[in-house]
Amino acid sequence: MVVGSVNSTEAPTARVALVTGGNRGIGLATAQRLRHLGFTVVVGSRSGQAPDDLGAVKMDVTSTTSVDDAFAEIERDFGPVEVMVANAGITRDTLLMRMSDEDIEQVLQANLFGVIRCMRRATRGMLKARHGRMVLVSSVVWAVGSAGQVNYAAAKAGLVGAGRSLARELGARGITVNVVAPGFIETDMTAGLAEADKSAILSGIPAGRYGQADEVADLIGYLCSDSAGYINGAVIPVDGGLGMGH
Ligand SMILES: NC(=O)c1ccc[n+]([C@@H]2O[C@H](COP(=O)([O-])OP(=O)(O)OC[C@H]3O[C@@H](n4cnc5c(N)ncnc54)[C@H](OP(=O)(O)O)[C@@H]3O)[C@@H](O)[C@H]2O)c1
Repeated sequence: MVVGSVNSTEAPTARVALVTGGNRGIGLATAQRLRHLGFTVVVGSRSGQAPDDLGAVKMDVTSTTSVDDAFAEIERDFGPVEVMVANAGITRDTLLMRMSDEDIEQVLQANLFGVIRCMRRATRGMLKARHGRMVLVSSVVWAVGSAGQVNYAAAKAGLVGAGRSLARELGARGITVNVVAPGFIETDMTAGLAEADKSAILSGIPAGRYGQADEVADLIGYLCSDSAGYINGAVIPVDGGLGMGH
């Protein structure tokens, strides 16, 4: 059973949107943005918890059964998922020479295989609805690389190939698949980085500041809207210029 209040009062018959990893950080900002835009929003996370004003479902993207069960719950309670933001992700940063098999496998499981699982499961309902919006949350490192993030950058680059391939498969069915590539955004994920590493990153950001989750959420909100139907297979950065358009 999906728990919580899921509808914006403005649009009670809104399209159903799922945000994976939507209980904090970029995912939470995105869920709140979508709710503000009138979508019926459910957030998925391993804990199955979310703020009171959002619907929540338990979902571990590293498990096909868990993903399938979460989609089935949402479909039963609200109808087909027409908007899917694949945002859940983790880091296990270290130099490659010290990176364990577990570091590699966990990051690829959550950040790449997990997204492909969600894309596959979401396709079914979107085809039935003849409408769909998928947004995959990658990272600027997909294009520019990052020392200490061989596992993470590989997963985030993989999303571009996966997303563009599915965009080709589904483009004629009213379904778009786009990739958003944030730069350094202030969330739990980046809070633990050493000050020296943060300063080094900051010095490479033309905007001269870190980004906020809302700035990513605003873009995702637009890509999920009906107005964005002719944007497909795109990779759009939100990085203050760090990746210079890549
Ligand atoms: N912050 C940045 O600077 C930045 C930059 C570029 C890209 N990104 C990407 O943006 C996305 C969100 O990042 P964030 O900074 O908001 O991170 P965050 O604050 O650490 O949040 C990560 C979210 O992912 C969820 N999650 C992790 N593993 C999961 C799993 N196996 N199944 C389901 N949910 C899972 C977490 O939920 P639970 O742990 O509660 O289950 C949490 O909601 C990630 O894909 C990240 O790689 C972030």
